[in-house]
Amino acid sequence: MVSRVIPVDTFDLVIFGGTGDLAHRKILPGLYRRFVAGQMPEDARIIGAARSDLDDEQYRTDVRAALMEFVDRRLHSEEHFAAFLSRLHYVAIDARGDHGWKSLHELMRDGVVRAFYFSVAPALFGDLAERLHRHEIADEASRIVVEKPFGRDLASARALNATLAQHFDETQIYRIDHYLGKETVQNLMAVRFGNVLFEPLWNSQYVEHIQITVAETVGVAGRGSYYDKSGAMRDMVQNHLMQLLCLIAMEPPSRFDPDAVRDEKLKVIRALEPVDPADIVRGQYRRQGDIAAYTDDVEDLDSRTESFIAMKLHVSNWRWAGTPFYIRTGKRLRARQSEIAVVFKDAPHSIFGASAGRHRNILTIRLQPNEGMTLGVTIKEPGPGGMRLIDVPLDMTFADALGPDNDEVPEAYERLIMDVVRGNQTLFMRGDEVEAAWAWTDPIIEGWQSRDDRPLSYEPCTSGPEESAMLLHRENRRWREIRE
Ligand code: BG6
Repeated sequence: MVSRVIPVDTFDLVIFGGTGDLAHRKILPGLYRRFVAGQMPEDARIIGAARSDLDDEQYRTDVRAALMEFVDRRLHSEEHFAAFLSRLHYVAIDARGDHGWKSLHELMRDGVVRAFYFSVAPALFGDLAERLHRHEIADEASRIVVEKPFGRDLASARALNATLAQHFDETQIYRIDHYLGKETVQNLMAVRFGNVLFEPLWNSQYVEHIQITVAETVGVAGRGSYYDKSGAMRDMVQNHLMQLLCLIAMEPPSRFDPDAVRDEKLKVIRALEPVDPADIVRGQYRRQGDIAAYTDDVEDLDSRTESFIAMKLHVSNWRWAGTPFYIRTGKRLRARQSEIAVVFKDAPHSIFGASAGRHRNILTIRLQPNEGMTLGVTIKEPGPGGMRLIDVPLDMTFADALGPDNDEVPEAYERLIMDVVRGNQTLFMRGDEVEAAWAWTDPIIEGWQSRDDRPLSYEPCTSGPEESAMLLHRENRRWREIRE
């Protein structure tokens, strides 16, 4: 395959929390993959910063172990490991004290992009931002990257935004939602706005309903203390599913530029109607055989946090009035399957008569696994026997389209980190978007709390509680199957 890797400017990337789980699993493996793809400039440097007292060599050993574990074996190479690790440095730092900041100041170079990844608890964001300035490490050209959870309600998100705004301009703040870095998610914009075929039909006149599913097989063991305070609503819906919904529902931006795209997404969030409690199904997985129950995983037998949620939403504007959006996400479901399905209306009149049955065009956008898109179209069943109609998929599976050698397709994190270095905020959430998403989420959660709502229990390895199916059945619709 011809290399399509576009080099980026050289950089000093400081990862606060550089010995943490996210750095090990996602950030450093992502950077390594970009390095192997040839995208990292010769003299780019990565500086881990954390509390532990390590030197450069010890940090390199720590990162090497992470690469061995979290990078695909096909990319393991002693030569690449050595060259990548030689770009790594380490500073032991106290986020709330003075230790280490002078060393970091001395390490940073002038004339290169400076980016600071806050892979730490949000409670430390303010301390880091303030010290970066006090020690003259960050300037008006520097960028900071922050992770979710970005607040746990509107008030805390506002407070976080205000803290960051004391030290950094909005154009310097990169709020990561890794779903926006997924290949298919970006392709969704290419398909909608790069073709003449879809956009004229992309409205309530032709779209019967839309489904967004993010199903996972994993449970929450090991991260129960975080998850139990969040639940599926805060952990997945307020950010990942909301972003997917925005990209599906938004008006065409005038340009593919950060503010044009984010302005349109914001309008969608603000057009979301409050949700009727009868249109929400919350679930919690129970024990089954060797699979522990949610309440065991979080070590709270009385937990009322949801590990599954399904909802019916309405975007109240001219384009979408009357077209429901059904969204669902959950842990310990039958399969890991994330997809968006745009279900088009029936043809207004069937010239083939009732015996031809009902056929609908469905555009399925698969985020994972097996990324790609499928458009179901109706054709005549080949051969003799009269006019019988069948549905066949027009299939664009990316792996097939790109050929077997598609390792160059970057994963979400690596793409987003390179966008930080490029200074492109299009795929990052703006502060007002995050706040608007919480403004919509808060009353829903408060409603559960005031009603003392208990999630329904569901069996692991299924599609969630039966009531989730009912949400659609009662309107003569059906979820697409979650398949192994
Ligand atoms: C994270 C959530 O943001 O996204 C996790 O905190 C979830 O609970 C994960 O498992 C899903 O990401 P992906 O890329 O595996 O679909």
